[in-house]
Amino acid sequence: MASILLTGGAGYIGSHTYVALCEAGHQVTILDDFSNADRSVPQRLQQITGAPVRCLEGSVLDTKFLAGVFAGQRFDAVVHFAARKAVGESVEKPLDYIETNCQGLITLLRAMEQAGVFRLVFSSSATVYGIPDETPTPETAPRRAMNPYGFTKIAGEGILEQLGQNDPRWAFGTLRYFNPAGAHSSALIGEDPSDIPNNLMPFIARVATGDLPELAVFGDDYDTPDGTGVRDYIHVEDLAHGHVLSLQALLRENESHLVNLGTGRGYSVLEMLAAYSRACGRDLPYRIAPRRAGDVPVYCAIPDKARALLGFQARRDLDDMCRSSWNWISGPHAAGKSG
Ligand code: UFG
Repeated sequence: MASILLTGGAGYIGSHTYVALCEAGHQVTILDDFSNADRSVPQRLQQITGAPVRCLEGSVLDTKFLAGVFAGQRFDAVVHFAARKAVGESVEKPLDYIETNCQGLITLLRAMEQAGVFRLVFSSSATVYGIPDETPTPETAPRRAMNPYGFTKIAGEGILEQLGQNDPRWAFGTLRYFNPAGAHSSALIGEDPSDIPNNLMPFIARVATGDLPELAVFGDDYDTPDGTGVRDYIHVEDLAHGHVLSLQALLRENESHLVNLGTGRGYSVLEMLAAYSRACGRDLPYRIAPRRAGDVPVYCAIPDKARALLGFQARRDLDDMCRSSWNWISGPHAAGKSG
């Protein structure tokens, strides 16, 4: 059993990772500023795990707060989710993104160093590949920033590489997520942005509930089988399990790794819509709209490295993702419905 600090642990992927870490027997403390998480998440995590949730409220930008967190408890490692993640918003507020994602990381690393904690799992993204030369994409593909958000993830990876290569005390697990989707099987936690969702699955979910009239399919003239964008969707519970494996590898071997977390299987927007329609039991309305600026035709992982290094393999399929999302969004706990 290890003692883990989980920054951003009340967010979408962070909360699922909290459950996975607890199930693996670790003792987890959440740190979150609740800027993009619902305040009832810790209580719902308690319902899932059946144990009290230790949750500290504060920001990874706050040096004093972080010093207090590390002074108050001995941690073996940090799993670091706390960051901003909306591509469009990053174009409008680049400095906010650079501040939270890069400065936040550095502030956290400094606090860890002072406390003698040298293992960290880092949330990176397939976005670091920009428009990939090769699809499916291996970890060796070149990194290209397409927007400030992508820049911050490339910069974060670079910071960790420099530290890891030059200071042998450090070891990092860098995880490049493809497209997380779905919700926890309990339907107590999931993704439900308070604004109109940017991402495909939460948008379709709102169409399914009737809150939004139809899905706009951004482009049907891509060079893909049905002309719509293809993504490697990965169930958020599989993704959460990937963090447990990454952390355990770090604790066991004290050696850095950098891996894609995906399934290796791509689905188009229309395939996703059809799967969600099956899950919710009715054909969901859509219209074809122009391409969205900056979109890539296909993102798909080569997942082999994560399997070889960590023993990671996604187990849940697209129907599992859609069913769990629908159970969550149509249940009593999604935001705006628990009132
Ligand atoms: N799409 C629609 N209509 C919508 C929303 C999305 O047709 O209303 C399409 C997009 O054009 C794309 C696919 O659905 O083809 C997936 O779009 P998402 O916005 O869900 O996901 P992206 O792949 O564009 O972006 C996600 C994350 C980014 C990350 C990127 C690469 O949001 O943070 O994956 O990992 F950078």
